[in-house]
Amino acid sequence: MGKKVVLAYSGGLDTSVIIKWLAKRGYDVIAYMADVGQGSDFAQYRKRALATGASKVVVEDLKDEFVKEFVFKALKADAVYESGYLLATALSRPIIAKGLVETAHKENAEYVAHGCTGKGNDQVRFEVTVRSLDPRLKILAPVREWELKTRSEEIEYAKDNNIPIDTTKKKPYSIDVNLWGISIESGKLEDPYHEPDEDIYQLTKGIDKAGAKPVYVEIEFKGGIPVKLNGKTIGGVGLILKLAKIAGDAGVGRSDMIENRLVGIKSREIYEAPAGWTLYAAHKALESLVLDRETLHFKDLIAQKYAELTYYGLWYTPLKSAFDKFIDETQKKVSGTVKLKLHKGNCAVVGRKSPNSLYKRELATYEEGDVFDQSLAKGFIELWGLPYKGSYKGRKQ
Ligand code: ARG
Repeated sequence: MGKKVVLAYSGGLDTSVIIKWLAKRGYDVIAYMADVGQGSDFAQYRKRALATGASKVVVEDLKDEFVKEFVFKALKADAVYESGYLLATALSRPIIAKGLVETAHKENAEYVAHGCTGKGNDQVRFEVTVRSLDPRLKILAPVREWELKTRSEEIEYAKDNNIPIDTTKKKPYSIDVNLWGISIESGKLEDPYHEPDEDIYQLTKGIDKAGAKPVYVEIEFKGGIPVKLNGKTIGGVGLILKLAKIAGDAGVGRSDMIENRLVGIKSREIYEAPAGWTLYAAHKALESLVLDRETLHFKDLIAQKYAELTYYGLWYTPLKSAFDKFIDETQKKVSGTVKLKLHKGNCAVVGRKSPNSLYKRELATYEEGDVFDQSLAKGFIELWGLPYKGSYKGRKQ
């Protein structure tokens, strides 16, 4: 038996060709598949991997862990990359890489391998994660090195080597799917002025096809985590799936971005995350009700940084762990219910309530029952503005 390598296997063309390519170079290839809600036919891919030359296939259902330890942490952080990306792909990479490392340990493998290109973020996420978890493991990235420069050359290679693949017709886009969302790139989308064809979308309806009537959803959070949908207790995975259907049918959850990759390239990406955007809006709304101003504003700064760390593959790092502690502290009060109205792509928060609400009607009201002492405002303003008294004198606007 040759040197053992655990390969992050998707069942697609690239990683199928990698099995053969590594086997031909004397490696004993174990194909590893993590189920993060991509809806793959794992039974079929298991057969395919074995038929292609893998000595063993490992399939792990990581959906619950993905939601609990990755997706909901990002949700509690309100992490959004460059204002439009809820990080579905980026969040899945560290958990898959962790699975690779654990499988390598179980199987006594010296190597792990992935099918990422040298131009993307995913290679960084896989490799940084593997190295922070076990620096002794050696990493192979065949796509970065091999002689197969185009997709048609890969298809040729697959044919020559009897590798079972889905179809020989040109795949129009590169699509990554998991429970939290879908990322779509390449093909016609490489022209930033090209409007995405309607048929690329899998989770969301277009505005014209979305339901004519608004749909209300009620989400209850406990400690920053959604626990009930429309009054019913439901686990994280189920909640995301159910909400994705409701929000997607209402046309909620699309983004079309030019984003900055870690490797310096700007790229066009289309994202769908209907459950994600609805939960994000609801979570933010609840936070605005229960967190004090300074915590809220400071947390906003962390959100941006948290998204960057996730995007940059720095999930298993000291700063990220420290942020999680801070965020968890803030989430102790984030319990309550948010009502949203979803309609034709719009996701509007229309109500929020919480036992920890800091909203005090008797302070805010302009009606009967006002207890706010307006006379105190005079002195407050005097001192607040004291450092600036006269400081702008003589300046031309
Ligand atoms: N640009 C996104 C990211 O770096 C998604 C990349 C996923 N790949 C894809 N085939 N669309 O996280």
